[in-house]
Amino acid sequence: MRIIHIKIIPCFIFCLGFITDDLIRVEEKGEQKKYMGVCKLPGEDTKHRRIDIIVAPYSEYPCALVHFTGSGHFNRSMRALAKKKGMSLSEHALRTGVVRRGQEKIHEGTPLPVHCEKDIFDHLGLEYRESHERDY
Ligand SMILES: *[C@@H]1O[C@H](CO)[C@@H](O)[C@H](O)[C@H]1NC(C)=O
Repeated sequence: MRIIHIKIIPCFIFCLGFITDDLIRVEEKGEQKKYMGVCKLPGEDTKHRRIDIIVAPYSEYPCALVHFTGSGHFNRSMRALAKKKGMSLSEHALRTGVVRRGQEKIHEGTPLPVHCEKDIFDHLGLEYRESHERDY
């Protein structure tokens, strides 16, 4: 928890000065988990851009990174593969031993150790791809 907060505070301070509009704030148990807004960097010809700030426990950081980096298609294919292998991949964890009956999950499975994004690829038997190589 702490480590990610240390990283997020400078990001927040930097970004706050450029935010022009708020879209969504998601809170869980009184804690801010997600912020989505619009920002504009200083200068005359700069465009407005979407900005998402996500707070995740450090242990969930690799799964959150894969989830929020995308691409959406790549991320959905990874989830589909996980499902085929009796696993489940979410923004929180990669779990194994998941039992499903149709769409319903009968057993949640157990989280696999994930310390970096590559661990997720390894557990799924995939060759590691840098985030800029996931754009399809
Ligand atoms: C990854 O997939 C999930 C589930 O379909 C979706 O909620 C999420 O927005 C996707 N991420 C990106 C970056 O598109």
